[in-house]
Amino acid sequence: MRNIIGILVIMLLAGITFGFVEKDGKQNMSTLPSPEEGSSVYKRHCLSCHQTDGSGVPSLYPPLKGNERVIGEKGPLIEVLLLGSKGPFSVDKDKYMGAMAAYKFLSDEDIANVLTYIRTNFTNNASAVSPVDVQEVRNSID
Ligand code: HEC
Repeated sequence: MRNIIGILVIMLLAGITFGFVEKDGKQNMSTLPSPEEGSSVYKRHCLSCHQTDGSGVPSLYPPLKGNERVIGEKGPLIEVLLLGSKGPFSVDKDKYMGAMAAYKFLSDEDIANVLTYIRTNFTNNASAVSPVDVQEVRNSID
């Protein structure tokens, strides 16, 4: 009988400990942007057009590298992903007349991660985008 109570107490303590660990882990994932996760979102959804090094294809797919829209204010950049983009506009001396589909089907986390990735790679060095930033823009346009 003593043993059974002992085992139950240990199971209960272990449950509480692991419960906290898991909760903390989940919370971190949803609040902190992860460029590593962003890299895999980029490979899956963006690389085919904007290229591995973010240099795009002149006059067809705009470069993300050194692009003012990518490294500038977060709000308009988040809108590009949630609403898509329709030219014409210029980056450097090249004109883009195409269109990009909206990526609003991606989660706030995926969008925050991929935008953090493109803002901190390809020689870009801008601040991170958090899931809360994405959520705020999503709420304002829904
Ligand atoms: C099928 C090709 C394609 C894919 C895939 C794609 N894009 Fe684009 N993207 C474009 C085109 C074309 C434009 C320019 C559209 C226009 O002329 O308005 C663009 C524009 C952009 C812009 C705005 C650039 C500027 O100067 O305004 C950003 C930022 C961007 N894309 C990021 C992404 C991200 C991040 C992903 C992945 C989640 C992605 N794109 C996936 C083709 C693509």
